[in-house]
Amino acid sequence: MSNQLEKVKELIALREQARLGGGERRIESQHKKGKYTARERISMLLDEGSFEEIDMFVRHRSVNFGIDKESYLGDGVVTGTGTIAGRLVYVFAQDFTVFGGSLSETFAMKICKIMDQAMKMGAPVIGINDSGGARIQEGVNALAGYAEIFQRNILASGVIPQISGIFGPCAGGSVYSPALTDFNIMTRGTSYMFLTGPKVVKTVTGEDVTQEQLGGASVHATKSGVAHFAVDTEEDGLKLIRHLMSFLPQNNMEEPPLVDCEDPIDRLEDSLNDIIPDEPNRAYDMYEVIGAIIDNGEFLEVHKDYAQNIIVGFARFNGQSVGIIANQPNKMAGVLDINASRKAARFVRFCDAFNIPLVTLVDVPGFLPGTGQEYGGVILHGAKLLYAYGEATVPKVTVTLRKSYGGAYCVMSSKHLRGDVNYAWPTAEIAVMGPSGAVEVIFAKEVAASENPAATAAEKEAEYKKVFANPYNAARYGYIDDVIEPRNTRFRIIRALQQLQTKKLTNPAKKHDNLPL
Ligand code: HXC
Repeated sequence: MSNQLEKVKELIALREQARLGGGERRIESQHKKGKYTARERISMLLDEGSFEEIDMFVRHRSVNFGIDKESYLGDGVVTGTGTIAGRLVYVFAQDFTVFGGSLSETFAMKICKIMDQAMKMGAPVIGINDSGGARIQEGVNALAGYAEIFQRNILASGVIPQISGIFGPCAGGSVYSPALTDFNIMTRGTSYMFLTGPKVVKTVTGEDVTQEQLGGASVHATKSGVAHFAVDTEEDGLKLIRHLMSFLPQNNMEEPPLVDCEDPIDRLEDSLNDIIPDEPNRAYDMYEVIGAIIDNGEFLEVHKDYAQNIIVGFARFNGQSVGIIANQPNKMAGVLDINASRKAARFVRFCDAFNIPLVTLVDVPGFLPGTGQEYGGVILHGAKLLYAYGEATVPKVTVTLRKSYGGAYCVMSSKHLRGDVNYAWPTAEIAVMGPSGAVEVIFAKEVAASENPAATAAEKEAEYKKVFANPYNAARYGYIDDVIEPRNTRFRIIRALQQLQTKKLTNPAKKHDNLPL
């Protein structure tokens, strides 16, 4: 065999060795836990045969505690490029079979390299996390590695989409890179995220808690909002990432992809002309409205199980990606509270950063009152949503279906926050507050002094409703551009979005904003 052939053989052998990560025994143990390996995940995520791996021959440089005697090609993270639906993406997947996917200096260097490349190319970064955290033997170099990644996450934020899959442990400092990215997808039963594990919790607070109770997918998808999506299997998670990508542009200088739409733009939905109940306190399901107006009823909901009093997610109108934000009268009457405000604000800001128009469906009785909310800083959190809408420069189309009261009127993409097209259904009620609350304040003396207070209050409420419980008062001032027939909502939104396609609006130059935190 020639010298050259020998060398080629050696290369092939080294590649095979690298592809085994921490070895067959550990791969088997990974499978036994119901998890895939890093390379299996990447191949399911990307278009078939599109993966180009880099840095397969990187090894760690640490010598502490005899770790220099154990080293693996690739050093615990698989990195490279590939395509999703033909579009370039950069990927990394932590390999739990190598030192438990723990992060070393060189491991971090590999991730940083693809992040830098992704920024130069203007392409998204997708990271799959499955790691025991900082590689303990590396000491400060592992911490430095994390911080290098965080810095890149920060600079890439709002420039390229960053998506994190959490398919195993993600504890300690490792949580902060996913937290800095745009979307976190967690697998139920096999993933968890927390700053400090159950043992430390027990020592510090005395609480007995399992990993699942402390930071499982269900907890983060329902209580903390850290996870935007919870899925049952890794296959579902990887499919979801591909689906999510279909709504997004490659970077903040591009428009999201336009897809062919066979759903007629002038499709009338008669059911919407009769969806609002006669009694103002009765709920209806906002999902029915969303499903009826978007292309093919296809809605990718974000934060589905968190703060369900507001709905956010991606859909299309005539093939164009939009972000939908809608109050949900079915949950807590669609009131705005701390969690709903944070959830919607984050979503609005994501869409604005990536040129995705906002379609807002309003039916909101106001902000949730009470000490719990006030002590929790609802003023600041509500201000986040206000801020997000007010700073957004993407096309903004708003439809008020029913209630739009008080501060919530201002917040929910009102004309005054540079709403471009603001429609209302004939059932809209736009006022400072609801009729009974208003009567209690402005007619308190008259009601108290009357012979029949209940009858007087009812009379005054009827008077108030006549003046304010309609869209025409707001339309009279031009705050509502038109009152539309509900069944024609899809067509009117599509027309509005077509009109707004060339929208150009910039905010004053500044170093950065000072969003209320
Ligand atoms: C080095 C590690 C490691 C780590 C796991 N391993 N975590 N090696 N550094 N952080 C190794 C194990 O020694 C083992 O090696 C292999 O990975 C698999 O680990 P197991 O414990 O056998 O797996 P499992 O039972 O599934 O438990 C997984 C685990 C556990 C829950 C993640 O390994 C664990 O608790 N690890 C430590 C977590 C931790 O405290 N990390 C530091 C957090 S502090 P062998 O050779 O047996 O296969 C942090 C600070 C960062 O991250 C701050 C940045 C700002």
